[in-house]
Order: sequence, then C-alpha cells, then structure tokens
Amino acid sequence: MAKLIINENKKLGKINAEIYGHFAEHLGRCIYEGLYVGEDSEIPNVNGMRKDVVDALKELKIPVLRWPGGCFADEYHWRDGIGPKESRKKMINTHWGGVLEDNSFGTHEFMELCEQLGCKAYVNGNVGSGTVREMSEWIEYMTFDGVSPMADLRRENGREKPWKVDYFGVGNENWGCGGNMTPEYYGNLYRRYQTYVRNYDSKNPISKICCGSNSDDYHWTEQVLSTAHDHLPEHLHGLMDGLSLHYYVTPGGWEHKGSSTQFEEDEWFLTLDKAWKMEELVTKHGAIMDNYDPDKKIGMMVDEWGCWFDVEPGTNPGFLYQQNTMRDAMTACITLNIFNKHCDRVKMANIAQMVNVLQSVILTEGAKMLLTPTYYIFRMYKYHQNAQLLESFLETEEIGTEEHKIPNLTESVSIDTEGSIHITLGNASVTEAKEIEILFAERKAAEINAGILTGRMNSHNTFEEPENIKEKPFENWTVTENGSIRLTIPACAVIHMEVKA
Ligand code: AHR
Repeated sequence: MAKLIINENKKLGKINAEIYGHFAEHLGRCIYEGLYVGEDSEIPNVNGMRKDVVDALKELKIPVLRWPGGCFADEYHWRDGIGPKESRKKMINTHWGGVLEDNSFGTHEFMELCEQLGCKAYVNGNVGSGTVREMSEWIEYMTFDGVSPMADLRRENGREKPWKVDYFGVGNENWGCGGNMTPEYYGNLYRRYQTYVRNYDSKNPISKICCGSNSDDYHWTEQVLSTAHDHLPEHLHGLMDGLSLHYYVTPGGWEHKGSSTQFEEDEWFLTLDKAWKMEELVTKHGAIMDNYDPDKKIGMMVDEWGCWFDVEPGTNPGFLYQQNTMRDAMTACITLNIFNKHCDRVKMANIAQMVNVLQSVILTEGAKMLLTPTYYIFRMYKYHQNAQLLESFLETEEIGTEEHKIPNLTESVSIDTEGSIHITLGNASVTEAKEIEILFAERKAAEINAGILTGRMNSHNTFEEPENIKEKPFENWTVTENGSIRLTIPACAVIHMEVKA
C-alpha cells in the first residue's frame, strides 16, 4: 500500500487562483459559436454570450481569462472591434484558417464576458504589428475615468465607467508569430512598450506580462530578463509583474502530433512523459528567474499550456479542433499538481483554449454543448484556488515503457480558509488500481467528500454520448482507528477528496 503523508502544520504558500485561468483566442470556433453567438442568435444568450456555456463555465469559478490571442493578438487592432457592429472593419484571420473576422466580438464584448463569468481580465496587446501609441490608447480607452479622447470614445460607445484590466500582455510569442524577434530586441521593445501601459487607476494597477520562452528555450528567459529587468534602477523593477511560458504536449512532435482519440498505451505514456516535462520547465526557468528576481516578485505565467493533437478528421486544419479524452484529463491532473507545488513562482496559468480549440473544457456543435474530461478536472481542482499549499509526500513507482517512464501517482494538497484539506490525486496506470493510505500529521479524518473521474484511457464524451465520462461520487475509502484514510484509486483515475476540519 502506498502512503501519502500530509503535514497540515507546514503551509508552503498561497496557490494563486489564477493558476486555474483560461485562454480564448479568435481562433476557429472558440470565440464565435463557442462563447459568442450574438444577440440575434436562436441559441439562448445573454447579450450575445451563450447561456449554456457561460453557466457551465461559472461552475469552474474561472479566475481569469486571457484574450484576444495568441498569435491573433499581434495582428489585432483594437479599434476595429469597437463601435456599431455594422460598421466594424472586417479582416481575414490569416493566422487561423484564413476566415473572415467581422470584429463583432471586441473589447466591450470581452469585458461583458468577463463580467458574466465573474473573472479577471487579461488583455494581450500587439507588439508584433502594432504601435506604442495604439497600445497606450487601448489602455486609456479601457481604464481612464476622466475626460480624454479615448475615454470619451468609450463613453460614445456606451460604456461610461472604465473597466479594470487586471493583466496586460506586452506581445505574445514575440520569438515566433509575434514578430520573430531576438530576445535582446524584444527585451528592449518590452521596456519601451510597457512604459506607456499607464496605471490610470493607482488603486488597481495593471500587472504587466513580458513575453517569455517557448518550452525549454532558456536562452530567451536569460536574455529577456537581462535586457528588460537587470541593470535597472530599483524604482523601475516593477516594470515586469510576470514573465510568460508556453508549453504544449504534442506526442508525435509538431509535424504529426497524433490523434486525440486513437492511441495505444505507448502513446499514453509518451504523452504523459511530455506532460511531466512541465516540472523541469518550471524548475529550470524558475532557477533563471531566481537569479534576477530572488524575492519572486515576478510571476511565472504559463499563459498557454495543454495537449495539442491533430485536428479532428474533416475539420479545418486552421481551427485546431480536437477531442478530449482521459489522457487530456490525466495531463491536466499532472500539470495542475505541478503548478500547485510551484505556487511560490507560478502565479498564473491559462489552459489553451476554453472552448472548441486544443485542450478545451467545453465543445459545441451548433446549439449542442458537451463537457470534456478536462472540464471535470478543473471542477475538481477549483478548491485549491487561493488555498494554502500543504507539505505532502507520496510514495510512487515508475511505470511506462522503456523510453517513457513516469510516476504512477501524482498529488497535491491544500488547506482552505475553513480548514478543509483538499487532495487531488491521479493514478496514471492504465491497468493497475492502487491502494493508498493517507496519513495526517495532526488531523484525524472524519467528514469526507470525494469525487472521481475515471474511464478507459481514450474514453471521451461525444454529442451522441455526452455523459460517457463525468465526475462521480467516490466512496471507495475507509477511515482507520487512528484517523488515516485508506482508499483504492482505480487505474486511469483522478480523485478530489475533501477532508473537513
Ligand atoms: O493556442 C494556439 C496558438 O499557440 C497561439 O495562438 C500561439 O500563441 C501558440 O503558438
């Protein structure tokens, strides 16, 4: 029997709610159809936002939403997306499928969506093809309360009060689709552009996010930090609140990523091995950040992460529409446990993407909607938001193939303000259930609530069978005389357990 030891006396830091953030880009059917259908749609909506999707998302307690991209951000000109819809400029979304973008979803609609979801707004600015003036005027438009050309324009467009912009990204993937820049060049541009991201509301300063690395490009991290952060006078150190990191799990590499649903056990382990790489990335980028920022004032913002497979057969290759199985759920389980355990440095993360694109929590087909296995992971993990990470040790064994070995079990543990302990635990074996004893340093377990997500490794929900995989109550546990918990976690399963104070 494996042991999980929990030391509720050792709190290791706050798990920022924003680790459970999401990302919605103007890409495929994420914004249009997935989230926004317009007020005149037959699909029930509130001010154009689909009601079924927003209601389901609310269950996840979405903390923050990143928009408008992605690669789209560095081609987006915000003025095209304001004012009367009939006169908004139309453009071709060259990056994603070459389809017509009518800009009917713009700044006002994004802020409306955030209001409906009750989440923070993370707006990503355009450095690649935009000007400093364009960026600075967008900030003025969104956040200035006084009399000014941009604030007046906002009022003309029907919004009297400014919005709160919680996070602002100064460019996206500027090493690639955001301008193919060198880190030194981008680092200097970052210094310049961020200067004009003004804090008009000093009580609600905007957190500025600098474009970080792609996967294990440690050189980028080093050079950007040395250019944009080091050698600055102390009073300028606040010019960077976050440094992003993007990492996608692509089992077959970028050319042939692999099917989202048709895979064998070796590909399951290959994928999960790649998911575990996040541990190394956070540790190594974190070590570089420690050299420049030992007090950990700059958050690591993993603002794009998730599985990236081949698109579903017959769908537009530029739309990145893929199915979502228990493999995605296990990837999310591993990744979110890693983020929790690194909450001293990881301050935000945004799964890519919210609806109908890559590792989505929701898929739609016209008026129909389904919740993916990844949705349930976010619902089970939401209790970690703003809780305190607890010290925990879990006995694991190596499983997998010759080339791809991973720990059979993964966990993270937190304590909320009511004193309830939340354990999220995954078993990555596809064949072996595992008995586990959970021991507490102090607590004797009594009142317990638990849920489980389990199935075969490629089980998923379809529009014909939308409830094939869903979270169910988990009751396969007992409390021993000394207050420890014994449970059997089935193969290919994720559990959330709440142990009340
Ligand atoms: O999420 C899809 C794309 O992946 C984003 O637009 C880009 O930033 C990344 O390469």
